[in-house]
Amino acid sequence: MNRFKNQTALVTAAASGVGRGVALRLALEGAKVTVWDRDTAKLDDLSGEVAAAGLPVTAEVVDMTDGDAVVDAVARMADRNGRIDVLVNNIGGSLHTPFHFLEQSDEDWARVMDVNVSACVRTTRAVLPHMIEAGYGRIINMGSKAGRFGSLFAGANYSASKGAMQAFTLQIAQEFGPHGITCNTLCPGAIITERVERLLAERQSAEERARVLESIPVRRHGRVEDVAAAIAYLASEEAGFVNGASLDLNGGQAMVI
Ligand SMILES: NC(=O)c1ccc[n+]([C@@H]2O[C@H](COP(=O)([O-])OP(=O)(O)OC[C@H]3O[C@@H](n4cnc5c(N)ncnc54)[C@H](O)[C@@H]3O)[C@@H](O)[C@H]2O)c1
Repeated sequence: MNRFKNQTALVTAAASGVGRGVALRLALEGAKVTVWDRDTAKLDDLSGEVAAAGLPVTAEVVDMTDGDAVVDAVARMADRNGRIDVLVNNIGGSLHTPFHFLEQSDEDWARVMDVNVSACVRTTRAVLPHMIEAGYGRIINMGSKAGRFGSLFAGANYSASKGAMQAFTLQIAQEFGPHGITCNTLCPGAIITERVERLLAERQSAEERARVLESIPVRRHGRVEDVAAAIAYLASEEAGFVNGASLDLNGGQAMVI
């Protein structure tokens, strides 16, 4: 497939984990991809992999809690590529803050809201003028099953931040649809990465884990490839009539009509 030929994509916080798989998938489908991350070692590792594979991926060190760094990095990408067709607001996570609400501090809330919401808001604000100018854009926000149904291993701060991203999505979808720009949220259940594997091992007993798996109709957790495939669809031109949607990606673990 070559769905993103002549297109450019920005995937944030994507040197590892889910974002890395998404960036590689978009590049394999023809996009010129820019990846931001604050972790230099992981970025070097990604750069090595894409160079060996001959994929057009530019990896840049950006600490997304720094608003000026985000604005500068968007300007550099626009200079380099001329346009920004796809934005995947991947940054986020529960930052290992406590699971139990009564154990969460104001700081736990501020940090989680900063990466899951504010960092995505800043990036979107910097990218949108380029999409408006081109009359085309695809924005995919990384939500979570947590924001729709609550989480079995991340806390209230994380669920609330993902719910906020869904509401943000609706407003962006409404306001910028007339410019040819769509905005959707992908809401994955647990996707097994090294970090999530560690978190599940810490927060759930073997029995609980077995019970959770039994509750997932497809009898498995999600894979990075599942996320990459769903995002590639939402990011494609053919998804142009999908706007303001929250797409569940959880094997049927939680379903609504
Ligand atoms: N993994 C899951 O089970 C799962 C499920 C649902 C939703 N999500 C969402 O998917 C997204 C990616 O999750 P993940 O599990 O791959 O994340 P992760 O914790 O593995 O982090 C991915 C990357 O973010 C980078 N990063 C962290 N803070 C940064 C900052 N300030 N600036 C720049 N880079 C920074 C890290 O260096 C890392 O490379 C998040 O929004 C997460 O909430 C994940």
